[in-house]
Amino acid sequence: MSIFSRLRSKLFKLSNHLMDQQERCKKCNIKCGLIKVSPDVLRSLEDGFQKLSGSNSTSLLKKYLTKQVFDELKQKKTSFGSTLLDCIQSGLVNHDSGVGIYAPDPEAYVVFASLFNSIIQDYHGGFGPEDKHPKLDWGDISNLEDLDPNGEHIISTRVRCGRSIEGYPFNPCLTEDNYMEIEEQMIKIFRTMEGELEGEYKDLTTMSKEEQNQLIDDHFLFKEGDRFLKAANACRFWPKGRGIYMNHNKTFLVWVNEEDHLRIISMQPGGDMASVYKRMIEGVYYLEQNIKFARSPRFGFLTFCPTNLGTTIRASVHIKIPKLSSDNNKLDSIAQRYHLQVRGTRGEHTESEDGIFDISNKRRLGLTEADAIREMQDGILEILRVEQSLP
Ligand code: ADP
Ligand code: ARG
Repeated sequence: MSIFSRLRSKLFKLSNHLMDQQERCKKCNIKCGLIKVSPDVLRSLEDGFQKLSGSNSTSLLKKYLTKQVFDELKQKKTSFGSTLLDCIQSGLVNHDSGVGIYAPDPEAYVVFASLFNSIIQDYHGGFGPEDKHPKLDWGDISNLEDLDPNGEHIISTRVRCGRSIEGYPFNPCLTEDNYMEIEEQMIKIFRTMEGELEGEYKDLTTMSKEEQNQLIDDHFLFKEGDRFLKAANACRFWPKGRGIYMNHNKTFLVWVNEEDHLRIISMQPGGDMASVYKRMIEGVYYLEQNIKFARSPRFGFLTFCPTNLGTTIRASVHIKIPKLSSDNNKLDSIAQRYHLQVRGTRGEHTESEDGIFDISNKRRLGLTEADAIREMQDGILEILRVEQSLP
């Protein structure tokens, strides 16, 4: 760390400390410091709120940002200085958002709770404002099956989880130095990984465009220029501090500083869920021996997007279901019943190509890791049962 970044981080800690000493603001009951929300931010909020209210957006943001909630929250700030605008600007700009809100820093989940809580409860299937996420429980891997032993439908299986590193806020509040520090710390850890997990870290700044595009096409690397993340101020200093660790078989990957500080991923061709899940757990165990992850008593592992809180697990298959895919209503109704989410072939906000869908568990909060995986497995087995029963 350079002298400058050390000084800056000391000053940052000192200013936070001073804020801690202040009395809570009488108006909003948070440690909001002395600085008010600026007139520019208020104007953007009022303007954005009006446009969203008049739109036909189906986002959870629109559903739960009532005038009453808006007025209650528009003057509030976290001790990182994050405002309501920092939370909702992505949904204000992108009316086609499904959700439309991110937490610029961990405190935002508390300061803006009257909005986050409703959205979280809706997305995660009933996780109420007083609920607490259960303790980590990976479950018994021997209960998992190969979801498609004959290799007829499942092209590949992937399980990922997100992790934030304790002591750092999320993307919109990270400094350029923070990005570089996180990346440096991770590179040191990656260098010590052994056995099946041993591999190489590639940073985006030195990667050729061809290699980057190939890795994206092969479903290993995150895409660039996500407009939802950009509007949330999550792509500053890009591509600095961003990259991917891959083991030699490209079955274990870690994304650094994309949407979350870390995304830990295990994937392989076919439907062998047990092997994929086991490898991800091994990777997580190894990393957490070397770095501390942020976890909250209420929300479990903390992430930038409220949809990923808790277990942060998304277990998915790339699956070919030609009969069901021609009956959208039937597929949707199974997905709803089994709490599944259907995405396109290249991931979120993409379309299905060649009849291939990405189907995963939808909820991640308020249930254990074992439950999330079981929920996905039960749903996929039902989809395959129905597919095979159709004429
Ligand atoms: P996530 O939020 O889990 O990172 P995205 O929807 O952004 O998911 O997808 C990231 C990448 O992972 C995309 O290229 C997507 O196609 C790929 N992917 C997701 N599930 C699978 C799977 N089961 N097999 C292969 N690739 C997958
Ligand atoms: N903000 C985007 C939306 O509302 C994505 C939400 C969930 N996905 C995610 N990658 N966090 O549609």
